[in-house]
Amino acid sequence: MNDIPAIYQGKLSTLEEIRVSPLSRAYTFSDSIYEVVPYFKGKALCFREHFDRMKNSAHLMDLKVDFESVSSDLYLLSETLAEKDGYIYYQITRGIDPIRSHLYQDDLELERFGYAMPSNFSSSPIGAMLCDDDRWGKCNIKSTSLLGNILAMNKAKSLGCNEVVMHREGFMTEAGASNVFYFNEKGQVRTSALSENILPGITRSILIDALRDTPYRVKEGSCSIKDFNDSPCIWLTSSTKGLLPLTHLIETDYKLQENFHGFLDVVELFNSAMQLHLATSK
Ligand code: PDD
Repeated sequence: MNDIPAIYQGKLSTLEEIRVSPLSRAYTFSDSIYEVVPYFKGKALCFREHFDRMKNSAHLMDLKVDFESVSSDLYLLSETLAEKDGYIYYQITRGIDPIRSHLYQDDLELERFGYAMPSNFSSSPIGAMLCDDDRWGKCNIKSTSLLGNILAMNKAKSLGCNEVVMHREGFMTEAGASNVFYFNEKGQVRTSALSENILPGITRSILIDALRDTPYRVKEGSCSIKDFNDSPCIWLTSSTKGLLPLTHLIETDYKLQENFHGFLDVVELFNSAMQLHLATSK
């Protein structure tokens, strides 16, 4: 991991070389936002959408960000991914306190940090665990405050799976690091409607748009976790996982129907949409 290109306060170096203060509010309070932008053969998938989501997260956290600097950082990192598949992780922190204080000074210099990671994104279906969503009430902000996700996902790990599907009072929200879709028993594709309880995933919106004028048009809304028992296919969506089916979901009767034709069609439609996005990406 030594030579991963990374940037801190606009200066390009490597992950190994960057040093940060323990009084960074990212360290003491998770007072920071982030993005993960996927690249395919050096081209960003839906760069504008990721950038706009970051602007919205900054707005919701009252972070006054100079987005020209962010754009320049992302450009420098993206150059290191030329022709490669991978992703950029990028984080903006409220800044470094003179001494730890819940109340922040308004004149702190924001901290900008990111790295570019080559990756082949390969993954095969995984198991997940159903659990209560006990996170805070603003999961629409892509904040690094992910303790609820982390604790739930690591509990799942102790049961042999790497993800969770969370619910509030019997209605699905999202996964620990992904959005969730499934076929219900009537063959409809379902996903949770956008709310403050889920992240508005970019992969989620690519998929919803790709399926809009097809027999698999997605019905967004309240999704009862009882639906999982009769579902032939539940899958996750994220920038690093793409579309990833679940083999089983602990606490439900769900079991993946291998090669379920509906899901194969959905993947094909998603892949075509992705290629179209990439063809117009700079
Ligand atoms: N996670 N929901 C949560 C809680 C997430 O953390 C993510 C992505 C998503 C999917 O969003 P998108 O399709 O825009 O990647 C949904 C990233 C990849 C991560 O934290 O590494």
